Amino acid sequence: MAEEIEEAEVELEARLEDQETFEPPESFVEQANVTDESIYEEFEEEWPQCWEQAADLLEWDEPYDTVLEDEEAPFYEWFTGGELNASYNCLDRHVEDGAKNRAAIKWEGELGETRTYTYGDLLNEVEAFAAALRDLGVEEDDVVTLYMPMIPELPIAMLACARIGAPHSVVFAGFSAEALATRMNSADSEYLVTCDGYYRRGDALNHKEKTDKGLRQVDHDVTSIVVDRLGDELTHFLGENAYDYDDLVTEHEGASVEPVSRDAEDMLFLMYTSGTTGKPKGVKHTTGGYLSYATWTSHAVLDIEPEDTYWCSADIGWITGHSYIVYGPLALGTTTVMYEGTPDYPERDRFWEIVENHRVDIFYTAPTAIRAFMKWGAEYPERHDLSSLRLLGTVGEPINPRAWKWYYKYIGNEECPIVDTWWQTETGGMMVTTLPGVCTMKPGSAGPPLPGVDARIVDAAGEEVEPGEAGYLTVQKPWPGMLRTLYDNDERFISEYWQEYSDEDADEWVYFPEDGAKIDGDGYVTVLGRVDDVINVSGHRLGTMEVESAIVGVSGVAEAAVVGGDHDLKGEAVYAYVILEDGQEPTDAMRERIVDGVVDAIGPIARPEEVVFTPELPKTRSGKIMRRLLEDIASGNELGNTSTLRNPEIVDEIAQRVGDD
Ligand code: PRX
Repeated sequence: MAEEIEEAEVELEARLEDQETFEPPESFVEQANVTDESIYEEFEEEWPQCWEQAADLLEWDEPYDTVLEDEEAPFYEWFTGGELNASYNCLDRHVEDGAKNRAAIKWEGELGETRTYTYGDLLNEVEAFAAALRDLGVEEDDVVTLYMPMIPELPIAMLACARIGAPHSVVFAGFSAEALATRMNSADSEYLVTCDGYYRRGDALNHKEKTDKGLRQVDHDVTSIVVDRLGDELTHFLGENAYDYDDLVTEHEGASVEPVSRDAEDMLFLMYTSGTTGKPKGVKHTTGGYLSYATWTSHAVLDIEPEDTYWCSADIGWITGHSYIVYGPLALGTTTVMYEGTPDYPERDRFWEIVENHRVDIFYTAPTAIRAFMKWGAEYPERHDLSSLRLLGTVGEPINPRAWKWYYKYIGNEECPIVDTWWQTETGGMMVTTLPGVCTMKPGSAGPPLPGVDARIVDAAGEEVEPGEAGYLTVQKPWPGMLRTLYDNDERFISEYWQEYSDEDADEWVYFPEDGAKIDGDGYVTVLGRVDDVINVSGHRLGTMEVESAIVGVSGVAEAAVVGGDHDLKGEAVYAYVILEDGQEPTDAMRERIVDGVVDAIGPIARPEEVVFTPELPKTRSGKIMRRLLEDIASGNELGNTSTLRNPEIVDEIAQRVGDD
């Protein structure tokens, strides 16, 4: 019997390996939110009016007059004249519709404790906290920074800010004290909500200490609110101008806070992300366009229904969590699962235990997690009943066909479509992916651009490339979820993202996401990765310049070049090539100081995989560092032409040192 099963497995593997396309299962299509392929044509013909379908998923206090205002391109405006409130759309309207007792958030802590907030509970706590924020002096348009891990108080604080029209700026809890301070200074943010600590692999981490260190580097006064996550596990002192979250909520219990009507173009939130320079960019998202787009894509791509239990395993500290844990799912009135911890604590089946226990219908994760699951083996998902799953999704980096097929077979039991969704912090929501009830799936290729999204692949001159040829991914028409600008930096917004092409009758602005891609004859897009100096570590975006400036900040370092190299689990890892000052020794202690310097400046996600000491960096005759060669060395690729270098001999020497380490 066992032998027979094994044979069947081998046969299945072989069949999957050869299969290049997959049709969505009939059972899925029968119930899908979008099933008619004419939606692509309809959106093209009726663009931009087609986006009213997204706006119609929301309730507006004041109807908009114009769908798209393009007078001041590329400062496009969507749904102008309209007014709405995001917290009302995510909470009140569901309670008014009779969903008061439906679970809105099901939270699971790392140690196994659970908390469920119904829509009614969530609305009450959001109102109490919104009242508290107001009492502390928060006014409309004040930026409130939220520096919290995956605890329910984070989405509560986001929605409380949205309710009173105060944009939030969430800083990923894994980021360093310095990163917190940089973002608070950049946004002139005078309010902070944080917590005492949280659990990671069973250990209580002190987050308050890191917060306090960050606050010492903020150049203005800050009022802070601290959530007591760890109770007796960790004692903390509030200090000056700091308040306890629970005390505030208790004091304001039962408060009723009218949701503030916000203009469609008013800022809903800021999200800092990495770019080519060392300074993170504050991406501005708006209330009307962003919320419509996050909601529409949650409906059309993630196929979310109010009755579903939906789980996105991202962290709310990144855009994926904003759009697809909080705003999109809650606007649709579904139950969204939040998990505090890591996938391998206490064991490697933790995620599958959560899927089984909560009967999760839709699961959205990152390829880096799938690669880890594959490495751990099918025995972990096989311990659990995953039959509740209906749809699977991935985001953050390219997924290779092998990982895709593993996910399809072992998690989806060949019964769930997979959506491989390409998008960015800047796009606000998904841009290129299959519609799961409509499209054939091609593992490794994200799919066609979504209806209404004009994504094309062009060469350096802006001309469309032939099918199969690599080029730059571009988006040639605006979309509602697009960033509106970079906080306080309109010039950088244009210079980093937009290019103007003019023909006789029109000025065409084209958006460059800085990704390389190719397109097949059938219009399916395969994303190849970043073309700028941004690296993607486990689906997390890091600027090489940020890491370099952290390294040169370590005393004894003269110069550094940081690149991404291939990594089995992380996708890409940080490789640092470092030149020391004269008289400094390339010791292990020095290496450790450099690694610590990076972790202190950015956070553990930026920890270099390798620090390679070198007397020189490969440079062109004009003095530019040849990063491509450093990337090839890091990835163990064959090295390209070095003849244009000023110092070609250094390349072999560096490659040798990488091999030795
Ligand atoms: O390079 C692309 C990659 O992630 C970048 C955006 O990172 P971030 O703004 O942090 O947002 C991540 C979550 C939306 C993109 O420029 N990327 C994202 N999704 C995919 C992807 N690369 C390939 N395939 C994807 N599905």
